[in-house]
Amino acid sequence: MVIGAQWGDEGKGKIVDFLAENADIVVRFNGGNNAGHTVKADGRTYKLHLLPSGVVRNKMVVIGNGVVVDPKILLEEMEMLRGMGYEPNLALSDRAHVIMHYHRLFDSVADKMGKIGTTGRGVGPAYSDKAKRTEALRVIDFVGNNFKERIVSILESKRHDLEKAGIIKNQKDFDAYKASLISEYEGYAEIIRPYVSDTVYIINEAIDEGKNVVFEGAQGTLLDVDHGTYPYVTSSSTCAGGACTGAGVGPGKIKRVAGVAKAYTTRVGEGPFPTELHGEEGEALRNAGSEYGTTTGRARRCGWLDLVILKYAKLVNGITDLAITKLDVLSGMKKIKICVAYEIDGKRTDRFPSSFEALEKAKPVYIEADGWQKWSAKEAKAVVKKGIRGLPENAQKYLKLIEELTGIPVSIVSIGPGRDETIIV
Ligand code: GDP
Ligand code: IMO
Ligand code: MG
Repeated sequence: MVIGAQWGDEGKGKIVDFLAENADIVVRFNGGNNAGHTVKADGRTYKLHLLPSGVVRNKMVVIGNGVVVDPKILLEEMEMLRGMGYEPNLALSDRAHVIMHYHRLFDSVADKMGKIGTTGRGVGPAYSDKAKRTEALRVIDFVGNNFKERIVSILESKRHDLEKAGIIKNQKDFDAYKASLISEYEGYAEIIRPYVSDTVYIINEAIDEGKNVVFEGAQGTLLDVDHGTYPYVTSSSTCAGGACTGAGVGPGKIKRVAGVAKAYTTRVGEGPFPTELHGEEGEALRNAGSEYGTTTGRARRCGWLDLVILKYAKLVNGITDLAITKLDVLSGMKKIKICVAYEIDGKRTDRFPSSFEALEKAKPVYIEADGWQKWSAKEAKAVVKKGIRGLPENAQKYLKLIEELTGIPVSIVSIGPGRDETIIV
């Protein structure tokens, strides 16, 4: 399993693509197209939002029951891949929920008031409907015979919300909206139907046959609806447990949990961020790491590595291995700070607080590591060949510090966005 150990965008797509070489199936289990996973391989860049990253290795890919699926986006992404020479071997869970046009609209309307800084993709409203039960649409109903009746009853129930959001004003608008929604989504259902199945059996049978299955998390630990920096989180379970519910596998079947973490920290959207760097320092990190969102293009907030977060992520996910990405971005810095604890109201703690107010007050306690020189492209190739010992000594020391202070082995180190810029320890 591959999950994000920070606030998302850790490089999960890159790591999943790397591991997918030896996988039979790659499974998404949470979130929707709020995710943006970048894979760089063979001189091409793939930006994936919904399809698991194994798709560019021609592996079988599964969108599990825990995902919320925008059919329009799914079809666009499949078309994009076809244009690049891939025919997705996809199984979409019949239990997954559908993101509809009104979810996207409600997301942007609600966020103007709530100020969470969502991606505006309708993910929160779709999960709200799932939990509410009466107004939800599952894939099985979406591609089934009763779609029309189902959607009409949902829209009747949502009529007041549609009016409030300014989507409709009167009966005529309402009838027109109903008709256009039905015709648009019936079109999508027609194309998607052949890909739909009960993916619980596909995944479990594959594991029982000894096949390799990689679970690809979306978002990250601190965006988890239970364990993250609530309410500045996404609406799904992004942690390891989310793969069990979101794909329908027992925890005993998960052999290793790789927590992906950048060598520093970033966050998109609102919410507390103790090690955030403001001004020039933050700008320098943003430029060095090209920290702009894959999904919305927003500038990512940047800061130092926070080990309070990684230790917390270890607990709530059962992380067995760390994959440290973007180590190259820190190259050329004289000194690098690492947060080892927080000071909250004059008291030192190494626990990640559940209170939003406490986290806002948290002052990072730093230790300092010595930096290392930038390496050239040629040197990077040599490093990958030689392995971890090929890295500058201070970079090796930095990784050792992370291992010692978190108690998690660093098993993968990424020193560039490319598939081959990856070191297995
Ligand atoms: P994800 O959402 O966790 O899959 O991460 P994103 O794809 O949103 O963001 C990670 C970004 O960093 C992408 O643009 C990757 O191509 C890039 N990236 C991944 N690993 C590395 C690395 O080791 N070094 C550098 N410089 N870029 C990387
Ligand atoms: P990947 O998979 C980073 C953030 C949004 C916002 C909050 C809620 O690429 O790591 P949502 O649209 O989910 O209701 O927004 O969560 N967010 C992400 N940040 N990476 C992501 O995905 C994210 N998905 C959502 O910016 O703060
Ligand atoms: Mg991303």
